Amino acid sequence: MKNMNQTKPVILKPFLLFLSVSLVFLFIVSFHSRRPNTSSTPPARQLKRPSSSSSPGGLRVRPGFGSYDMYIQHQLDKTLNPKLREVWTTRDWERKIKVFSGFFNDLKNKNLLSKYSKALCVGARVGQEVAALQRIGVSDSIGMDLVPYPPLVVAGDFHNQPFANETFDFEFSNVFDHALYPSSFVGEIERTLKPGGICVLHVSLTRRSDKYSANDLYSVKPLVELFHESEVVHIRTVDGFGLDTEVVLRKKMKNKASNKLVLLFSRQNQGS
Ligand SMILES: *[C@@H]1O[C@H](CO)[C@@H](O)[C@H](O)[C@H]1NC(C)=O
Ligand SMILES: *[C@@H]1O[C@H](CO)[C@@H](O)[C@H](O)[C@H]1NC(C)=O
Repeated sequence: MKNMNQTKPVILKPFLLFLSVSLVFLFIVSFHSRRPNTSSTPPARQLKRPSSSSSPGGLRVRPGFGSYDMYIQHQLDKTLNPKLREVWTTRDWERKIKVFSGFFNDLKNKNLLSKYSKALCVGARVGQEVAALQRIGVSDSIGMDLVPYPPLVVAGDFHNQPFANETFDFEFSNVFDHALYPSSFVGEIERTLKPGGICVLHVSLTRRSDKYSANDLYSVKPLVELFHESEVVHIRTVDGFGLDTEVVLRKKMKNKASNKLVLLFSRQNQGS
């Protein structure tokens, strides 16, 4: 043994040292270049994290995203995961459409959605929600996510929706937990909803979701408080793929007279 050690060339030690240093260097370089330059993604209009005073303990934005680009890349890692996409478009496809159709039919029966509604699904991935809306007759519906999935889903960041003000009658989302800027997420929904338009969010108050979530919600109050132009229609328990609560809000009409009309109208419809 001793003899073998002595036969090793003197150069070996510095060479090994050099090798390991280069490997570490290579690793760091490749780790950084793995992230594509997404600076072209426009940051949202008014990116605001919730102040702790306005949402005491009920909504916590997770720390640890160094930059907006890093956050977007993290979200893309899930959205573009080929295994997940395969599951979403095959095994999950019909099952999810069935459940979503049930939710949407129920909202239709409550006059919160109709076949004439122009509908948007926010953070729709491969668009099962959109397919469900179309199946129950809401033909003018589209989804939006970071990665498009034609023809059901167009590209867009929910912090900065690619739609004009007052475009939709109905918006649905079950990805609120992915919002790094919850107030922008909600602000953009309110901006693109028509006056009188309906927002339906499915959220989880009990189960902590996956590592791709950017916030944790512990009660409905801080979520509702993010809406400045809307009124709560109902809050109820649902069983929606790990999400337990449905929050429905209506964007207010521009003046009080028309607000009363909408109220009268919906009361009459409920009565009939
Ligand atoms: C990323 O792209 C933007 C605009 O395309 C550019 O201004 C910026 O310098 C780029 N950043 C890096 C790190 O390449
Ligand atoms: C769209 O809505 C936002 C927020 O409500 C407002 O600040 C902006 O001026 C509106 N834009 C147009 C073109 O009306």
